[in-house]
Amino acid sequence: MGGWAIAVHGGAGVDPNLPKERQEEAKRLLTRCLDIGISSLRSNLPAIDVVELVNWKPIPRGSALPENGTVEMEASIMDGPRRRCGAVSGLTTVKNPVSLARLVMEQSPHSYLGFSGAEEFAKKQGVEMVDNEYFITQDNVEMLKLAKVANSILLSTVQFDYRIPTVGTCGAGAAMDSPLQMNGLPISVYAPETVGCVVVDKDGRCAAATSTGGLMNKMIGRIGDSPLIGSGTYASELCGVSCTGEGEAIIQRVETA
Ligand code: GLY
Repeated sequence: MGGWAIAVHGGAGVDPNLPKERQEEAKRLLTRCLDIGISSLRSNLPAIDVVELVNWKPIPRGSALPENGTVEMEASIMDGPRRRCGAVSGLTTVKNPVSLARLVMEQSPHSYLGFSGAEEFAKKQGVEMVDNEYFITQDNVEMLKLAKVANSILLSTVQFDYRIPTVGTCGAGAAMDSPLQMNGLPISVYAPETVGCVVVDKDGRCAAATSTGGLMNKMIGRIGDSPLIGSGTYASELCGVSCTGEGEAIIQRVETA
């Protein structure tokens, strides 16, 4: 028995060029995530329950949009001491992707389900499902437009030299440019709905979970690092990991210790 620890992240979508209210919103969301995690740990919930709660409870409606303007979400979860894990990709109607990842871990013989198979599994498990439109917010529609204007294709070898208006100042006459870029894509257009959490509970059990809509303007069918165990998410008896950033770069740089 000992102390506990928690770390959360809110994705790579928040940069100093975002309007102040968006930055404040992101901070509020992360603070809520932390508060939920801390009160759960104080109530002696095991690490695996805490990372699940933190990943779905406080998350606002919305998701990064693929190139066709729909939504494909993904998530994963790992229980360190048991070395059990579950992951899902290509979800279009599942309200809490990380909870479905947990069900894959606990209730299926597999570790990873994607697309129509994952949706079918969700129906059978009776999890809450909503229309795909539920996740499509006006903010994200605007961000997708910006990504398209920027012709942003997220290949690490492609470098664009452009400046586009920051989110919130989109449209004719917008004066503010965004100098912060990641592979040519202004970081401002990255999805702000990503959440990652790593926890060690008072019994020393470590768990990690990550959930995301991926990248704005991604190709349909694109899978990032977040649902990939050993890349975006991992937990063992010794450590937990939840990554944020451009999935393609993370996947390419996994190293074994
Ligand atoms: N790291 C989130 C993603 O690339 O999808």
